[in-house]
Amino acid sequence: MSILRSVITGSGSYLPPNIVTNADLAKKVDTTDEWITSRTGIKERRIADEGVLTSDLGTAAAKDALKNANVDASEIDLIILATATPNRIFPSTAITIQANLGITKGCAFDVQAVCSGFLYALTVADNMLQAGNFKKAIVIGAETFSRIVDWEDRATCVLFADGAGAVILESQTGGEGTLADRGVLYSHLRSDGRYEDMLYVDGGPGKSGTGFLKMAGKDVFKHAVSKIGSSIEQALSDNGLTSDDIDWFVPHQANKRILDAVAKRIKLDEDKVVVTVHKHANTSAASIPLALHDAVLDGRIKKGDLILIEALGGGFTWGSMLFRW
Ligand code: UT7
Repeated sequence: MSILRSVITGSGSYLPPNIVTNADLAKKVDTTDEWITSRTGIKERRIADEGVLTSDLGTAAAKDALKNANVDASEIDLIILATATPNRIFPSTAITIQANLGITKGCAFDVQAVCSGFLYALTVADNMLQAGNFKKAIVIGAETFSRIVDWEDRATCVLFADGAGAVILESQTGGEGTLADRGVLYSHLRSDGRYEDMLYVDGGPGKSGTGFLKMAGKDVFKHAVSKIGSSIEQALSDNGLTSDDIDWFVPHQANKRILDAVAKRIKLDEDKVVVTVHKHANTSAASIPLALHDAVLDGRIKKGDLILIEALGGGFTWGSMLFRW
């Protein structure tokens, strides 16, 4: 039997050149490198210059992914952008990226699941490819969180940053329908709106102004470890796997302590965890594709490797996914 699989054939990324270190932040808010490093693992982050938009970061990451997948933009019939920091309320920022790439066929739209956005977008793209209506997708996570943090709130402004990552997802036949296939193998998505007040932006069309990011950090931390841990345990048990079967764990990069706690809970060897939070901070929907591409670029992730990704974001939204590179 030969089945359709959505296979990632290339990845790419783009980071704004402006590096802001913890020491730089300590000059603006009441914080220290020691506090940020010990509580989060973050050492530096990238911040987009004024006038640089989420679509600019997303377009650059998409171009990099197209090049690395050896795919021409004209072959793309689906663009899904995960972002919580769109250029405008409408049209979608994916539309702008579509135009920037010179693509005039197929469709493009945004997915909003905050830090889980890339996981959601990849799942939606996989389902659209599996249904047979689309053949080649670009799935992007791009954010300019520097625009929605309150630069006077030391509890949040030191955590978030800007960047973009992307993958090319191609519908390919030849899968056997087993875990040995290349491509997306499993996805587990969850949300629970009862927690919407733990991590949110206090602005929008229903309020006055754009607003700022607000977070009950300690509560979010606890929910992240327990909800992500449960989602991964379900992913492993649904597929008859143990953490030993995972080649690379590419988590959402919110806080090194969350990554360590989740890895410990699922008994995963820490050498298999891809960590970029020290240099990227929390780039929300961009963090997973940025980390993924980092590990592809330096040769850690190789064809045939089994990859586990996970995230938790505002909502809460959360989940996990397994794919074979
Ligand atoms: O991606 C979406 C998901 N987001 C997350 O997963 C984030 C989850 N939460 C976290 O990562 C952590 O809760 C934080 C890193 C946000 C905070 O770490 P914490 O260990 O939970 O610290 P805390 O909020 O309990 O604050 C401890 C102390 C407080 O002072 P007092 O009340 O003990 O005197 C804060 O005022 O640290 C103080 N503080 C800071 N001090 C220096 C808070 N922010 C800072 C700062 N610099 N930037």
